[in-house]
Amino acid sequence: MIKIGILGVGTVGASVANILETNADIIEARAGKKIVVKAGVVKNLSKDRGVSITLSDNPSDIVDDPEIDIVVELMGGVEEPYELVKKALQNGKAVVTANKALLAYHRYELQEIAGNIPLMYEASTAGGIPIIGALRNGLTANHIESIQGIMNGTTNYMLTKMINEGALYDEILKEAQELGYAEADPTFDVGGFDASHKLLILASIAYGIDAKPEDILIEGIQKITATDVDFAKEFGYEIKLLGIAKKTKNGVELRVHPTMIPSSSMIAKVDGVMNAVSVVGDRVGETMYYGAGAGGDATASAVVADIIDIVRGNHGPMLGYKKGLEGGGLELLSKENITTNYYLRMEVDDQPGVLAKVTNSLDTFGISIESMLQKPHVEDGHVKLLFTTHKCQEAKIEEAILAFKKLECVHGKIAMMRIEK
Ligand SMILES: NC(=O)c1ccc[n+]([C@@H]2O[C@H](COP(=O)([O-])OP(=O)(O)OC[C@H]3O[C@@H](n4cnc5c(N)ncnc54)[C@H](OP(=O)(O)O)[C@@H]3O)[C@@H](O)[C@H]2O)c1
Repeated sequence: MIKIGILGVGTVGASVANILETNADIIEARAGKKIVVKAGVVKNLSKDRGVSITLSDNPSDIVDDPEIDIVVELMGGVEEPYELVKKALQNGKAVVTANKALLAYHRYELQEIAGNIPLMYEASTAGGIPIIGALRNGLTANHIESIQGIMNGTTNYMLTKMINEGALYDEILKEAQELGYAEADPTFDVGGFDASHKLLILASIAYGIDAKPEDILIEGIQKITATDVDFAKEFGYEIKLLGIAKKTKNGVELRVHPTMIPSSSMIAKVDGVMNAVSVVGDRVGETMYYGAGAGGDATASAVVADIIDIVRGNHGPMLGYKKGLEGGGLELLSKENITTNYYLRMEVDDQPGVLAKVTNSLDTFGISIESMLQKPHVEDGHVKLLFTTHKCQEAKIEEAILAFKKLECVHGKIAMMRIEK
């Protein structure tokens, strides 16, 4: 019999306890052993969790209990779970976690501490979708060319409503909060930070990149306006908050930002709270993974799958490689060196010659326009100028935006969004 201790019996922890009990027959058949929860840890012992397991408010009752074989960390946070997971591993216990924030900051240290002890984390990225398993196992014959995905359900729900129903950002954020999709402080989701944690985990497995959220480009969906949405529709794009990891000849691009993608692409069709990740391998081509990225049962499904894999003895190295990947030589590309297509929106004077000034400015930085739209709606004698560019370097776009700001014919803020084709 295998004994489990659960640190954190909240949304996911209670679902894990419930699945282990109600699906015990199929789990035992697949694992080859009976798996039972010995105890769980919470902060507030008086709250009903809806599960019949022994509860304590002392994490040491789990990490230091010699009878517990596998510690499941589902409490959230960064430093406290780090210390507890470290202790559990040092005590020789296998660990399963769904904690993306913990891994975004400490995955390489934990890999070192774990050594040959299993440390599994399928649920940390895209909840119930087995994307970690795909990268760690199914795609190991491939050099990974790119990973691109919708890794946050809250923002995808909001963007779907903004695009399909013309809802405004503030209205839809309120609705998402009322439905329980967005937290009272939504910054972690709408600011792109949650997606960045997941992207970093995937990039470690695919490329061995040891970066932290502060090291990569992260932009949220807060600045998207109805004008951007209309433009996207008119030019055949959807707007999605994507996590993108891409191997280029100069290094690996890692970025999270609202992205215009062709409406015909598979990822563009992923609506509502669902997640989807596309992985391109050099031999397999494009593979696609779709499903629930959050929710108690969907996330617990991935946690329990990790527990079963550990019991079966099916675990490899934590990040999926035993020696440095790609000769150990892949570097994170700096933000300025990212290369893609861009969309720009600005307000300009409604006068002859203005367009020439703007296009000349772009020419100076070697940027060429792909498509352009002038909105007839005039405010204070200004019109909205929207255009997309051919591929260019992020640094050039930033320089061009600075130059536009200095032009007398350009007013207010200049918006920029990246396009992936
Ligand atoms: N929810 C999802 O859909 C989802 C999806 C993917 C990944 N995850 C990850 O899974 C983890 C758990 O998420 P969740 O939604 O289940 O969180 P949650 O509902 O807030 O549950 C957290 C649990 O941990 C307990 N806890 C927190 N700090 C503790 C401490 N210092 N000592 C003892 N107990 C403590 C809490 O106790 P009290 O209840 O007494 O406060 C609660 O039972 C997080 O890392 C999250 O990022 C969640």
